[in-house]
Amino acid sequence: MKKINNKLPSGNYNIFIGKNILSKLTKEIEHLNLHKNVLFIIDRNVNKYYYKYIFDNIKAKFNKSDSIIINSNELEKRIASAEKIYSQLIQKKYGRDTLLIAIGGGIVGDIAGFVAATYMRGIQYVQIPTTLLAAVDSSVGGKTGVNFGDAKNIVGCFYQPKLVLIDTHFFKTLNQSEIICGMGEVVKYAFLSDVNFYNYLNLNLNKILKLEPNVIEKVIYESIKFKCSVVMQDEREDGLRKILNLGHTFAHALEIAQKYKIKHGQAVIVGIVCSLFLSNRIGYINKENLNLYLKFLNIFKSKIKLKNLSTDEMYKIMLKDKKNRNGKIKFVLPIEIGKIFIDAECSVSLIIDSISESIKFFVNK
Ligand SMILES: NC(=O)c1ccc[n+]([C@@H]2O[C@H](COP(=O)([O-])OP(=O)(O)OC[C@H]3O[C@@H](n4cnc5c(N)ncnc54)[C@H](O)[C@@H]3O)[C@@H](O)[C@H]2O)c1
Repeated sequence: MKKINNKLPSGNYNIFIGKNILSKLTKEIEHLNLHKNVLFIIDRNVNKYYYKYIFDNIKAKFNKSDSIIINSNELEKRIASAEKIYSQLIQKKYGRDTLLIAIGGGIVGDIAGFVAATYMRGIQYVQIPTTLLAAVDSSVGGKTGVNFGDAKNIVGCFYQPKLVLIDTHFFKTLNQSEIICGMGEVVKYAFLSDVNFYNYLNLNLNKILKLEPNVIEKVIYESIKFKCSVVMQDEREDGLRKILNLGHTFAHALEIAQKYKIKHGQAVIVGIVCSLFLSNRIGYINKENLNLYLKFLNIFKSKIKLKNLSTDEMYKIMLKDKKNRNGKIKFVLPIEIGKIFIDAECSVSLIIDSISESIKFFVNK
């Protein structure tokens, strides 16, 4: 089992990574003296596959406990889902001394975190991510929120969990497309962190896609370690943390343009390819490196399908991105591995050109 301590201005918490470590939750609840009035917020598929595993392993003596099951899809990542949880909390007389335990992917984690942040002005919560994406990214760092209208994650707050427990046992039921989604965020760290991690991923991509235990544990550990090092320096995304949005301006617009038929992590891979082309067009990345990085991403070509994508529509959606300032779209662009440009502004024609090049990349298998 591996452990990382995320040291933040708003408080510290531990992140545990390992296989079959769920039973550790009981000990940690005691050790951290967490509340014993517990509402579990569980993803529907996770509940279907792991109900017995979850409740055989969590043996803490709670004062009371209930569960809510969530259908994880972007169309339900809305205030209405949070409202259902508030209703249940109020109806069952849960007070400030409540602990929410989120067990699921990024959607469950983001909604549960948002409810924890807002119910009675803040209650404790624990993240138990069950997808690769949630393990390497969304469960750590305290960004919570929901979609509103046609804007992604536009309503939310920063609110940190008391503990993150990553039990890779949950991954055995993930299908290839969910593993690819997780890889979207891992690939992002490959560009952000350093040449060692990039080379390791380059060498082990096939093993990662097969979820080989030692490799996957290392990948999760390195990804989170990098994310924590960034969040520690800039918890509320005033500066450095913006680098974690690499590819995301394109990705969020793509998700909306494709009516969420493309998943977030897959959209991030497309977004990273768009960012590489844009960075090359601006002159930050030379042609040789561009080709090298595209070769690294070749493996994802056959695994991501883009249908009827209008570059103009995507651009219009990007104009509503929450990271824009003074009506201008701000980009995070790679220069080389570990070297990133934040808040780049680009001409409309270059943005549209980079989306078109990226579509060609994924269409020409
Ligand atoms: N808060 C953050 O910092 C942050 C960072 C990245 C992404 N996100 C958000 O995360 C969300 C995407 O998360 P996701 O990719 O985990 O998607 P998700 O939560 O929708 O889960 C994907 C699918 O996998 C299923 N599932 C979950 N665990 C499973 C398991 N162990 N076995 C089988 N099926 C399982 C779910 O039912 C769902 O159908 C997006 O909404 C994105 O905006 C948030």
